[in-house]
Amino acid sequence: MAKTQYYTATSIDGYIADENNSLEWLFEVDEGTENPFGEFFEGVGAFAMGATTYEWILEHDNLVEEPENWHDMYGDVPCWVFTHRDLPLVPDANIFMISGDVRRVHEAMTVAAQGRNVWLAGGGNLVGQFVAEGLLDEIILGIVPAILGSGVPILRHRLLVNDLVLTNMREVGQFAYLTYAVGDVARLGRHLASEAVTRIPVLH
Ligand SMILES: NC(=O)c1ccc[n+]([C@@H]2O[C@H](COP(=O)([O-])OP(=O)(O)OC[C@H]3O[C@@H](n4cnc5c(N)ncnc54)[C@H](OP(=O)(O)O)[C@@H]3O)[C@@H](O)[C@H]2O)c1
Repeated sequence: MAKTQYYTATSIDGYIADENNSLEWLFEVDEGTENPFGEFFEGVGAFAMGATTYEWILEHDNLVEEPENWHDMYGDVPCWVFTHRDLPLVPDANIFMISGDVRRVHEAMTVAAQGRNVWLAGGGNLVGQFVAEGLLDEIILGIVPAILGSGVPILRHRLLVNDLVLTNMREVGQFAYLTYAVGDVARLGRHLASEAVTRIPVLH
């Protein structure tokens, strides 16, 4: 079944950018020879990001002058950018500028994704709105060996032990990838696991 996933890189202490919205600390890391993001993105049929994240990518990858950089990264997969402003568009990119209720947009993204996954690229501001609506199924964190002390958090929401279940761990270069099921998916997984335990016959 298709999922709605928040895939992001983070520092050990849970920041996705430093206080100046810089990601330079992230690019110094040994990524290894595998390509976890490429593997992940093959399953994505639609994605979304907040205005701050979009503006960072726009500038970092010089997308107005070099729109081919967007196509190299994301191909024609449709992207919804949440903003209240008129932001510059990447020429010929499959981008929709949108504002307001994330539930309505999530429905449109799910239809556009045609059975593939929906990726929430971040940041935490936008993804928090999907969490509040119960629309997030999975968090995939690529943890970088860096401690920033302050910055932009993964999320401003509290998701506690009953909301999250660790489903996978993977080491790639200096990244530690952790995957968590979220919300109802996590609770269902926990329930099924405890059912299975109670059904194991006691041997005498
Ligand atoms: N480490 C990573 O892999 C990673 C991944 C993603 C992001 N980041 C970084 O995280 C930082 C941004 O994260 P963030 O959480 O601060 O911001 P964000 O979620 O990227 O963007 C927040 C902004 O999006 C707009 N917005 C959000 N919800 C909206 C809605 N429902 N309707 C209309 N507009 C809406 C608002 O901007 P306006 O009202 O001004 O339009 C809001 O201020 C950036 O530095 C980015 O580079 C890092």
